[in-house]
Amino acid sequence: MSRYVVTGATGGIGGAVAELLHEEGHQLVLVGSHRGRLDAAAGRLGGCETLVLDLLDVAGIAARGSALAAGDSPIDGLVHSAGLAQLGAIADSEAESWMQQYKVNVAGPAELTRCLLPALRAARGQVIFVNSGQGLRTSPGWGAYSASKHAARALAQALRAEEGPHGIRVTSVYPGRTATEMQQAIRRQEGAQYVAHTYIQPRSVARTVLAALMSPRDMEVTDVSVAVPGA
Ligand SMILES: NC(=O)c1ccc[n+]([C@@H]2O[C@H](COP(=O)([O-])OP(=O)(O)OC[C@H]3O[C@@H](n4cnc5c(N)ncnc54)[C@H](OP(=O)(O)O)[C@@H]3O)[C@@H](O)[C@H]2O)c1
Repeated sequence: MSRYVVTGATGGIGGAVAELLHEEGHQLVLVGSHRGRLDAAAGRLGGCETLVLDLLDVAGIAARGSALAAGDSPIDGLVHSAGLAQLGAIADSEAESWMQQYKVNVAGPAELTRCLLPALRAARGQVIFVNSGQGLRTSPGWGAYSASKHAARALAQALRAEEGPHGIRVTSVYPGRTATEMQQAIRRQEGAQYVAHTYIQPRSVARTVLAALMSPRDMEVTDVSVAVPGA
């Protein structure tokens, strides 16, 4: 049995990752920004630790996050699935929107990773970033989100280069449109219909995350795209 920390555990993809890890009998720490949603997620699975952490409060992460790395419990995996997507042309995107997406998608995950590194090193653990197709390319109206996800890809690459020698493996997963609340909000922002069955299902992305986490130690899954077929 291994111990995994999952952010965005109240969401579609993070929730599915937590579910699959729980089904395989692992110990979980579920991370989210709202106590009520976190308790509901923990209640569905049973027997999980929880941590309320608002990634917008980057300066506050160290105090709360470090508690997880304290004690003698190593952390075998940290899955960053929390994310924030606010669409808008650069001409219309205000500073606050840039900052919020940067905090939740890059600076917060970087700070949480930093706090948990001692426990990850102790376990020769793994860090997974649920990135986005928008972390590999960009499109009109996606500038701030896409820039934050490009930065998250760089964060993963730098982390791999620095922590690989300590035995830590790092993976970025780049999903296409996935049937979650975030995608519902995106379709509203695009003024388009949300058609859940035409998107990737959260459990399918989660299976890719688990494949990377469970891969043999003689290899490292560095980058995986998960796309809607034919998209
Ligand atoms: N859905 C897609 O089409 C799609 C495509 C490509 C990439 N992605 C990426 O996949 C990841 C998971 O997204 P999802 O589709 O599962 O979205 P989701 O269902 O809307 O879940 C988003 C999660 O992010 C957490 N979160 C948001 N703001 C936070 C904050 N300030 N502090 C802490 N947690 C915060 C939420 O936690 P609370 O409930 O506590 O707020 C929630 O658990 C994201 O990184 C997203 O960018 C999604």
